[in-house]
Amino acid sequence: MENFEFVSPTKFVFGRGVETQIGEKLAQEGARKALVHFGGQSARRSGLVDRVCASLDAAGVEHVELGGVRPNPEITLVREGVALAKREGVDWVVAVGGGSVIDSAKAIANGACIDGDVWELFETKRPNPDVLPIAVVLTIPAAGSEGSKNTVISNDALGRKTGYGNDRQRPRLAFMNPELTFTLPAFQTAAGLTDMFCHLLERFFDDVGAVPVTDNLNLSLMRTVRAEAPRVLADPEGYDARANVMWAGMLCHQGLAGVGRHEDWATHALEHELSAFDTSITHGAGLAVMFPAWMEYVYDANPARFAFYGREVFGLSPTGDAEADALSAIDETRAFFASLGMPTTLEELGIGEEELDGALEKMLLTLRANKGEAFGSFKKLTADDARAIYRLAL
Ligand code: NZQ
Ligand code: ZN
Repeated sequence: MENFEFVSPTKFVFGRGVETQIGEKLAQEGARKALVHFGGQSARRSGLVDRVCASLDAAGVEHVELGGVRPNPEITLVREGVALAKREGVDWVVAVGGGSVIDSAKAIANGACIDGDVWELFETKRPNPDVLPIAVVLTIPAAGSEGSKNTVISNDALGRKTGYGNDRQRPRLAFMNPELTFTLPAFQTAAGLTDMFCHLLERFFDDVGAVPVTDNLNLSLMRTVRAEAPRVLADPEGYDARANVMWAGMLCHQGLAGVGRHEDWATHALEHELSAFDTSITHGAGLAVMFPAWMEYVYDANPARFAFYGREVFGLSPTGDAEADALSAIDETRAFFASLGMPTTLEELGIGEEELDGALEKMLLTLRANKGEAFGSFKKLTADDARAIYRLAL
């Protein structure tokens, strides 16, 4: 078990109707004026933004609004938010939405406390000690940003999408009402399930041996996501399955499922290049394509780990041949994503051989800028390996 540091300062307020407590809870924290940040349409259309603002009004917390966050959130709106936060003197940022809105809010919360351009943090990854406190009203279980220390932002002018980690940007408060997820389209529900499952895979497959306390938690979450997925897709307004999935999405990425391990994160890096190249690609759908390809490329570094995963998560019986068992586990993974309606090839994501050829070398350059010469942990990968994995994914 490797040394680790872990902090999770978020207060989670979970259940039906909890978003109406936001004003009262923010006032208790001493909030004076909040920037309420949200996405393109859903939270406005459902009346959620109005409900959140009414709760703030009732508690005497002033607020300004900034909507329009797109999926794969972009730095231009972040800069607008930073300027607004500074001009208005806000002391809290409230994200009403999913990973994209929360990540944009985290970037604003950092940028509001520094003098220069906030993108500099994404370039240098330097620690930033001063971050405005963040509250979240979650509307889609997927990225886990409501509990995580990361934000991922796109910079279209540079063709980049990259992350910035900082424990100080972990949300202070997260309101999680499963009923708010009833309106999610099946595709977004499925992409979210895929993303949370992949957050567990990234932590499970690395170069550290068994860490039972962490691994058993991780495997139990994998089994839960797998079991709840068909229930939630079959009955989008079934409260219990939605609730289990919502809480699981947080647990998959807040950090506990990887403590004591190195973790891998190569596949997320490969996917982020895809959604930087084509900003209409949904993160979870990109992962559904890239994860099985990565698995096929690297499993020979430790087939026994894959065989163990296949037994524990998919109930596969051991054949005595670890390599065959590993390959079966990879097949099951791909079949699971396909059963959710996710794409399984780059072609299905709209990237055929020709598009890939045209984009690949530029993607490998930005991948190197984001991750360095060698990346990953289960098996160290170079640009040549990344090229081969993208080709496997075609
Ligand atoms: O913009 P609106 O109209 O709100 O529509 C959104 C959006 O189109 C819609 N939606 C959200 N809640 C809804 C809803 N539609 C109906 N009913 C609701 N209740 O869903 C679409 C996707 O939303 P988005 O926030 O983009 O989804 P997600 O939570 O999957 O976030 C994806 C982003 O998070 C990043 C990804 O790279 C991607 O940019 N990640 C962030 C991480 C982190 N901060 O720790 C880790 C992840 O690995 C990931 O990289
Ligand atoms: Zn992810």
